[in-house]
Amino acid sequence: MPVRIKIFDTTLRDGEQTPGVNLNIQEKLEIAKRLAKMGVDVIEAGFAIASPGDFEAVKAIAENVKGVKVASLSRALEKDIDRAWEAVKNAESPRIHTFLATSDIHMKYKLRMTEEEVLQRVETMVAYAKRYCSDVEFSAEDASRTRVEFLYRVIDKAIKAGATVVNIPDTVGYATPEEFGNLIKNIKNNVPDIDKVDISVHCHNDLGLAVANTLAAIMNGATQAECTINGLGERAGNAAMEELIMGISTRKDYYNNITHGIDTTRIYSISRLVSSMTGVNVQPNKAIVGANAFAHESGIHQHGVLSEKSTYEIMTPESIGLKQNTMVLGKLSGRHAFEERLKELGYNLSPEELNRAFNDFKILADKKKTILDQDIEALVREKAPGIQEFFELDSFQISSGNKVISTAMVSLRRNGDVITEAATGDGPIDAAFNAMERAVGFNLDLQDYSIKAVTEGKDALGEVTVRASKDGKMLIGRGVSTDIMEASIKAYLNVINRALSELGEEIIKVKAAL
Ligand code: KIV
Ligand code: ZN
Repeated sequence: MPVRIKIFDTTLRDGEQTPGVNLNIQEKLEIAKRLAKMGVDVIEAGFAIASPGDFEAVKAIAENVKGVKVASLSRALEKDIDRAWEAVKNAESPRIHTFLATSDIHMKYKLRMTEEEVLQRVETMVAYAKRYCSDVEFSAEDASRTRVEFLYRVIDKAIKAGATVVNIPDTVGYATPEEFGNLIKNIKNNVPDIDKVDISVHCHNDLGLAVANTLAAIMNGATQAECTINGLGERAGNAAMEELIMGISTRKDYYNNITHGIDTTRIYSISRLVSSMTGVNVQPNKAIVGANAFAHESGIHQHGVLSEKSTYEIMTPESIGLKQNTMVLGKLSGRHAFEERLKELGYNLSPEELNRAFNDFKILADKKKTILDQDIEALVREKAPGIQEFFELDSFQISSGNKVISTAMVSLRRNGDVITEAATGDGPIDAAFNAMERAVGFNLDLQDYSIKAVTEGKDALGEVTVRASKDGKMLIGRGVSTDIMEASIKAYLNVINRALSELGEEIIKVKAAL
């Protein structure tokens, strides 16, 4: 009888620890709802004590996302556990996830605790969490570099204190598959009562082995796998859920003793959603969800695939929900068809959002011959949830060339007034961004700017992602248009509105002349 592996998604906790990533509550909620729909078993919604924003996000997910366990991370400290419980207590199925480092190196330099002190803390804190919640996960941080005899004792203590899941993290991505698989096997053979709890694994990708290590652990008895969408996470990230799941599904012949509950056809769209919300692009040659994952470049491969797909394709694009590029809608398509298409793509918009998306679609249909799913998704994703539109774009005019100083004039609308400012800059984008900063009355520190074509062709939509910081807070903005200057201005405006939504209107230092 195959074992059904539980999928614990930590995109919203470890994934959000990816440098430069900062999601707001509405974005987290949207991702969490998609995770629940695709069938994950546990969502780690955040680290409740980390900030008021994290706490509110975990609480909102716990209260609104059903059919899935919702966990909050907490250090092995009473105040962390209190906060974690406060955040998850209204979930249909709450979990407290508490952790403490167990390797010599962490105990000596980070915790400054002895083995006995660590054992004592594990026992008291797991028991403390258990008083609140029947489902408690304990993680032995840096387990793969922990003295193994000590690790057995730690796990034993956690189980005796009431842990229902024990997690064995490869925190620094140091393990190799054989070694990590053996570690799980040895834990199973040496810890009493281990069969009464779930053994979880949480592998980082520092050596590119996170998925391989996770699979090796599963083959040796792990029953829960921790992972993230697109492999996001600290440093080189975590095990990528899409790789893990498609590995198991595609190689059913080999992994015939395990199953999972994930609807693989939802993989592609959630990958795109997470990439767009986090501003972290997926590398083109990334397994499963990269742009080239199903592309066949060489003549020999193309010939093979044309006569029989399985010559070079071990899984179909459809199995991850990637449809072939087809013209889905045109200029004459009605609202109903548009809404239906959006639903098929996994978007359930409010009537207001739908009106706006349909309007944008009609404008695009006048400019672009064929409108593909990717175009529709880009239009919808452009409107980040939870961002109030303090300023809206009215118009812009740019002058630039190789022998002139770039100049931009941008008009923004606010509460019915139009504010117009002009500025020069080092190129048209710099000029436009400078003019916008004058118009809104505050500056941002631009960290990153990237542009990509949403589809092929000269009339393709350009999707701009801008990352900028304000008062130490990292903000991400997106803009799409067939005109790349317009896409850039919309992306910067999105960052400006996000800054005002998250930091308050006090950041406006200079009131622009109306
Ligand atoms: O990598 C790690 O060890 C972690 C734990 C907190 C589970 O993220
Ligand atoms: Zn981690």
